Amino acid sequence: MADIMNGLKRTHYCTDLSTANIGETVVVAGWAQKTRDKGSLVFIDLRDRSGIVQLSFDERTPRDVIAKAQTVRAEFVLMAQGVVTKRESINKDIPTGEIEIFVDDLRILSAAQTPPFPITNNTGVNEELRLKYRYLDLRRSQMQDTLRFRHQIVKAARDYYDENGFLEIETPILIKSSPEGARDYLVPSRVHPGTFYALPQSPQQYKQLLMLSGFDRYMQIARCFRDEDLRADRQPEFTQIDLEMSFVDEEDVRTVNEGFIKYLFKRILNVDIPTPFVRMPYNEAMARYGSDKPDTRFGMELVDLSDVLKDSTFKVFEGALSAGGSVRAINVKGKAAELPRKKIDKLVDVVKTYRAKGLAFTRITEESTTSSYEKFLTPEEVAAVREKMGAEVGDVILIVADARNDIVCESLGQLRCNIAKQLDMIPKGVFNFLWVVDFPLFEYDEEHERWSAKHHPFTMCKDEDIDKLLTDPGHCYAKAYDMVLNGCELGGGSIRINDPEIQEKMFAALGFTKEAAMERFGFLINAFSYGAPPHGGMAYGLDRLVMLMLDIDSIRDVIAFPKVQSASELMTDCPAPVDAEQLEELHIEVTETEE
Ligand code: AMO
Ligand code: AMP
Repeated sequence: MADIMNGLKRTHYCTDLSTANIGETVVVAGWAQKTRDKGSLVFIDLRDRSGIVQLSFDERTPRDVIAKAQTVRAEFVLMAQGVVTKRESINKDIPTGEIEIFVDDLRILSAAQTPPFPITNNTGVNEELRLKYRYLDLRRSQMQDTLRFRHQIVKAARDYYDENGFLEIETPILIKSSPEGARDYLVPSRVHPGTFYALPQSPQQYKQLLMLSGFDRYMQIARCFRDEDLRADRQPEFTQIDLEMSFVDEEDVRTVNEGFIKYLFKRILNVDIPTPFVRMPYNEAMARYGSDKPDTRFGMELVDLSDVLKDSTFKVFEGALSAGGSVRAINVKGKAAELPRKKIDKLVDVVKTYRAKGLAFTRITEESTTSSYEKFLTPEEVAAVREKMGAEVGDVILIVADARNDIVCESLGQLRCNIAKQLDMIPKGVFNFLWVVDFPLFEYDEEHERWSAKHHPFTMCKDEDIDKLLTDPGHCYAKAYDMVLNGCELGGGSIRINDPEIQEKMFAALGFTKEAAMERFGFLINAFSYGAPPHGGMAYGLDRLVMLMLDIDSIRDVIAFPKVQSASELMTDCPAPVDAEQLEELHIEVTETEE
């Protein structure tokens, strides 16, 4: 094949060039962003991954070269040689705006059809089209910047953990299905008919085994797969910065990881993150913020009104309290003008989506006070509520009562965030990190009427709770922690059980017989009988980290080739049916396909 570049070699990326290069002969390569043909004058904006530089051609340019330049259209791939010259009309919008390349040799390396959308930022093109032509979408400088940034975060993670004695070790992608957690993606085995591998939801079991093997400190940039319903910050395949350490307690793991965040934010954003982070017990997070991932960038904390309303005869409050529930409220300070009655009515729908039955309010303005519940209270109760809420003119008090505390807290917590977003109460450019600690070890599974592990069955309980494992699981707490940034769960982990006796108790508390536990987790139980050091670790959601550092709302915008809500990939149109022959080899029969 002829060498279409004909010996030309790129000497610079477009934005490497500046007035310092004036007079030099250079070679650049990339895509035509824009062309302007004014007869004897031709300009082409050439784009590579660094940015744009202008190529210019005029009456001094060899005729065949300018003729070729006139055939160039958007997205043609070009290589150009020329002399860097000072530009007559300076373009302040681009870094190379003071220069241009006066071209003497031009190669068209590839022609291009007109793309389905222009390769520029903020074109308002719908996401479906962008994802169908993702390879074109990725040419936009926004996507290029994001993925470069993502690379830098990964590089910084590898550097930090390496400097702190961690080894990166790969763990398998084809593993045994484990029934805990989200749904597994399964891969059929050809060699062993009727059997399946699972794709890992995380490297959890393997990283623990690496601790048993004595590696002491492990990390991995790990791809994880979970067949769960997608949301704005979830993908069926995503990436974790995963790590595990031996001979450590909770504080050791947290300290190493605060160090990572400090290092990362300084190195990438030049932002100083103060450490140590606040450590907030789970129960406190739920009571103050109605969330296990509290956003502390704004106030509006939940206030428990149960004590001041304990004698209330208002049926809504009385009913909730007598059933062992609570009455709690938030004060939307100084926002009465922005929360007219109509808007408050819409907020009722917000709390109802979180299972609350209603929302009571008091709205205080200079002109009047309106309230949905004060008429049902005594004047003393009204005064006590207002005082506890610190209510003043301009405030709106919003109250939820329910027989279930979790419903009261969660619905108010969600309402709090919803209002803050709606009324623009969240400061920009703030990074509020905290650890949520002291998670309950178990949660009650109403459907199956049994206790299940809140994190996973290998999470160690607090030392003082070991004796309660079988007698009072509802009051056992875990050596587990989540790292929260601005109301988002960035990562989480725990100290693991390394004592077979405690593990046995844990399985019993979860309702497994010895035999059932052996059948499911036998290899792990065996492994732990050969000398297991105390160990623990955590994992960050890398995609979420990139989103939060760059202030990007959609997880799809930080992944090169993401999947959409329905877990399909629009560019390659997968998942897709396979040939009958392939199925046969895999001993699989598709009995029914749904439309
Ligand atoms: P966990 O399940 O909490 O813990 O996951 C750790 C972090 O991974 C991110 N994450 C996700 N990101 C994008 N899409 C998803 N579907 C998704 N699911 C989770 C979150 C989360 O905080 N093995 C344990 C960690 C440990 O105990 O060491 C684990 O996987 O940011
Ligand atoms: P009602 O007497 O049912 O009209 O209720 C009076 C006020 O209490 C209305 O503003 C309702 O929205 C409110 N309310 C009803 N149920 C609840 C609840 N579970 N929590 C808080 N407020 C409620």
